Amino acid sequence: MQSRARQIAFYASLDTEDEIQRPRHYPRPVRFLLEEKLRRALDLLGRVTATDALCVCGGSGMDAEWLAHRGIRPTILDLSPEALTRARIRARRHDFEVTLVRGDAARLPFADQSFGMALVHDGLHHLDDPNRAVDEMARVARHELVLMEPARAVVTRLAVALRLAADVEPAGNAVRRLAAAEVRARVQARGWRHVWSARDLVYYQPWTFPFYRRAEPDPAFSVFVLAYRVLNLAVGRWGNSLKVAARR
Ligand SMILES: C[S@@+](CC[C@H](N)C(=O)[O-])C[C@H]1O[C@@H](n2cnc3c(N)ncnc32)[C@H](O)[C@@H]1O
Repeated sequence: MQSRARQIAFYASLDTEDEIQRPRHYPRPVRFLLEEKLRRALDLLGRVTATDALCVCGGSGMDAEWLAHRGIRPTILDLSPEALTRARIRARRHDFEVTLVRGDAARLPFADQSFGMALVHDGLHHLDDPNRAVDEMARVARHELVLMEPARAVVTRLAVALRLAADVEPAGNAVRRLAAAEVRARVQARGWRHVWSARDLVYYQPWTFPFYRRAEPDPAFSVFVLAYRVLNLAVGRWGNSLKVAARR
């Protein structure tokens, strides 16, 4: 099956309720890790000027909901019609407005600079050529770009060797991890003057959830947050989670 068709088939098969609600039912430390990813990426920008954003590979709307609750009007672009239906239900249920567009991240169906921001969370690594989507995001965004994707990292090679991470995902795609320097150079070559990147160690595969559940109540949760921050201050720069943010 062609890779896009495989993505569409996989995302049609997911549990609807789980997708609409995530991450509400995730363990509290995992919810923290997800929010922390977005906070760290937006903090790279210092301040956000965009009032609207395109969520590329936006799936069932988790990233769009994050933005909507920060006062940024989201549009979701995704290949999967089922994901877009779930995003519509999410928006109705959780009270935010969203525009839904079915399309391919490698060929965004929008004019240059048509959104204040273009943002992606865990999407570009599904593509055969993530660089094309980076170029497209850089083209359609007017003020700000935000990417949160798996990093090309030694620690990930180790995790793959230990079978804690995989090079092929359940959706059938090879995981095309990004290198900060390549993304930064690419975005700069497209006229973005300010580009920042950061890496962190973040791990929350579903098999870890029972362990994370134990850290839900206080004071265990506060200890977890502190340990996470200290760990990332020390070794986060070699971590598996890449954030790139840019301003024109
Ligand atoms: C891991 S999900 C992430 C969804 C969302 N960003 C989130 O974090 O909840 C990846 C999404 O990318 C979408 N996708 C895969 N290839 C795509 C492509 N070429 N163009 C647009 N969307 C794509 C899939 O349909 C899926 O919804």
